[in-house]
Amino acid sequence: INRTEEEYKKIFHSINGLLLPGGDVDIQTSQFSRASRIFYDLALKANDAGDFFPIWGTCQGFQQLTVLTANRNLLTLTDTKSVALPLTFTAAANSSRLFQSFPKDLMQSLSEENITANFHSWSLSIQNYTRNFKLKKFYRVLSTNNDGKREFISTMEAKHYPFYAVQWHPEKTPFEWIDKPGMVHTTSAVTASFYTARFFVSEAMKSQHHFSNLAEEEQALIYNFSPVFRGIHAVFVQNYYFD
Ligand SMILES: *[C@@H]1O[C@H](CO)[C@@H](O)[C@H](O)[C@H]1NC(C)=O
Ligand SMILES: *[C@@H]1O[C@H](CO)[C@@H](O)[C@H](O)[C@H]1NC(C)=O
Ligand SMILES: *[C@@H]1O[C@H](CO)[C@@H](O)[C@H](O)[C@H]1NC(C)=O
Repeated sequence: INRTEEEYKKIFHSINGLLLPGGDVDIQTSQFSRASRIFYDLALKANDAGDFFPIWGTCQGFQQLTVLTANRNLLTLTDTKSVALPLTFTAAANSSRLFQSFPKDLMQSLSEENITANFHSWSLSIQNYTRNFKLKKFYRVLSTNNDGKREFISTMEAKHYPFYAVQWHPEKTPFEWIDKPGMVHTTSAVTASFYTARFFVSEAMKSQHHFSNLAEEEQALIYNFSPVFRGIHAVFVQNYYFD
């Protein structure tokens, strides 16, 4: 939906964080990318002024963040369309904000078991990250993966902003019950999903933003919408339709 910048600004001051989900839109020309840019710029400014506002990017949301930060598309094609992978943690992972509070056994599972769901064609290679001054300055790499040909970034966090990006899908594990390669529902995979969600919610709790009144807040809640079951052979088991 095409809203004005003023409308997005009002939403920005009502919510406690932004999640850029996976999807299939153009990350440079779509309305989604336009809205992302507006929120991203507002978030940079707010955090600079001490007004805490976190952003989370999953899959295409990860990719969108790289475009927002680098001001160009530096992604490359990888063979990662439907595969569960273990994370290769960097030395920065243990002391990162994102992974710091994860239990040790979960970190071990994440690094040894194939429990992160990858459903992407595009990736940010270590090579392009390293060569791009803006990305390198802005993000710290927490984990990588390899499709056999190229090492790409699977998890990163911004150095000076509460911005987080995962190329994998923590949310699919507990909620997406379609039987295809790359889908995992093991206890450790669901635990990883829970801890990533818990982390981002704890970040959002630090934000002081709020709706101007209760009626506006109620109107914005997800409970106003009912998910629609699309059948087990659909691309997604259940969909939300807005508008
Ligand atoms: C680096 O980014 C360019 C786009 O600017 C892309 O064409 C190229 O494939 C990328 N290379 C690697 C190794 O990721
Ligand atoms: C687990 O991931 C690795 C890549 O890190 C891959 O070589 C291996 O085949 C995968 N195992 C399974 C059972 O998918
Ligand atoms: C993180 O810490 C654990 C033990 O606390 C250690 O086994 C592991 O090697 C560390 N990981 C990295 C990437 O340094």
